[in-house]
Amino acid sequence: MRPTLFLLSVLSGCLRSALAVWIDMEGLPDTGLNTSSWVTGVLPDLTTDIWDLNDMQIAAKNVLAPKYYASYRTGALNEFTYQANLNIYSKVRLNGFSFRDVSNMNVATTILGYNFSQPFFIAPAADAGHANKSAEASLAEAAGKAGILYAPSISSTLSIEKIAAAGQPGQVMFHQEYIWANKTRLVDELHRIKASGFKAIFLTVDNTGINGIRTRSMRFNDDTDTDTGHAANFDLQSLAAFRNLTTLPIVPKGIKTWQDARTCMELGFPAIYVSNHGGRVLDGAPTSVEVLMDIRQNAPEVFDNMEVYADGGVRRGTDAIILLALGARAVGLGRPAMFANIWGEPGVSRMISLFAQEFYTSLQLMGVSDVHALNTSYVNTNQIVPLTLS
Ligand SMILES: Cc1cc2nc3c(=O)[nH]c(=O)nc-3n(C[C@H](O)[C@H](O)[C@H](O)COP(=O)(O)O)c2cc1C
Repeated sequence: MRPTLFLLSVLSGCLRSALAVWIDMEGLPDTGLNTSSWVTGVLPDLTTDIWDLNDMQIAAKNVLAPKYYASYRTGALNEFTYQANLNIYSKVRLNGFSFRDVSNMNVATTILGYNFSQPFFIAPAADAGHANKSAEASLAEAAGKAGILYAPSISSTLSIEKIAAAGQPGQVMFHQEYIWANKTRLVDELHRIKASGFKAIFLTVDNTGINGIRTRSMRFNDDTDTDTGHAANFDLQSLAAFRNLTTLPIVPKGIKTWQDARTCMELGFPAIYVSNHGGRVLDGAPTSVEVLMDIRQNAPEVFDNMEVYADGGVRRGTDAIILLALGARAVGLGRPAMFANIWGEPGVSRMISLFAQEFYTSLQLMGVSDVHALNTSYVNTNQIVPLTLS
């Protein structure tokens, strides 16, 4: 090698190692991710470096402005619920049965009667534009290509109409809505959601009136505005009134107690969505694993009378299996899709395919050839303290 070339290559090596950063992995499972060659602010290679959803989170931490990473990552207060969401799955044991034919697998399912290729979906999350200028369009496109459900947030970067237009022909999407104090806004949005072709409403009921206090995010002067515009006086009467505002099926999102689950069943909702909002609202709220177990114990009829969806800390195919075995019909992914979106649609598509592969393989290893066969016989929850002590 000529001396100038040699000098240049030494210099570029020095520059790279000077720019390479140590990234705090936040206690995520150590699967050997090596970030030593990464450069702050530069997207890591999606196919050679990224092998699971946790890798995508670390990549997002490397690339996003700290303020935006914090806004996605933050939980409320001490983040006890955020951490519990991630850790609860390690307390559940999976029963894998041998002597089962798993050569023909079915993971496809229906959600509110619509066909989807997988029983997992992209949950509503605000401001996808902080990760990528394509914003929610990448999420809609990736979901459409994979045949999975996406339900955009009403606090999205793109408009209701633009997200609808980003979908594939015939793609079914649901839409999230908040209970705004401003009735005119509420009625207008519900009308636009229906007119744009969305098939159902995830009605978020866990932060009516007020948001959680998200310290991690507030340090960047984000989320300091406590006026969310949500109606704080939302009660059962208002819920009944809300149902007259749209003909779309309504799924209350943010159910955290068996009592509320049963109330929704008695009121005739077609489904509920068990969620603690990714630990961003009430710190100390139980995980979906605990809430599903509690519904099983106190109001098991809920599972016979309505569909139940659940989310929170789902990062591995096995996490989804646990929620499905406890009675969920479909499982949501919140932050992972936002982090994957740093690469735009290819990132979100890779997230879906990595997750789908973990899900499919783990089902095979458990001897489950049809996702609908999952039930509580496949999980051992002895390490989890029941919410309701008998
Ligand atoms: C950045 C971010 C924004 C969110 N925005 C909304 C929202 O606008 N509406 C809503 O109902 N839930 C919202 N959520 C909650 C998610 O729908 C979902 O319940 C939660 O993220 C699931 O937990 P996970 O992130 O651990 O997968 C948001 C979550 C995140 C991380």
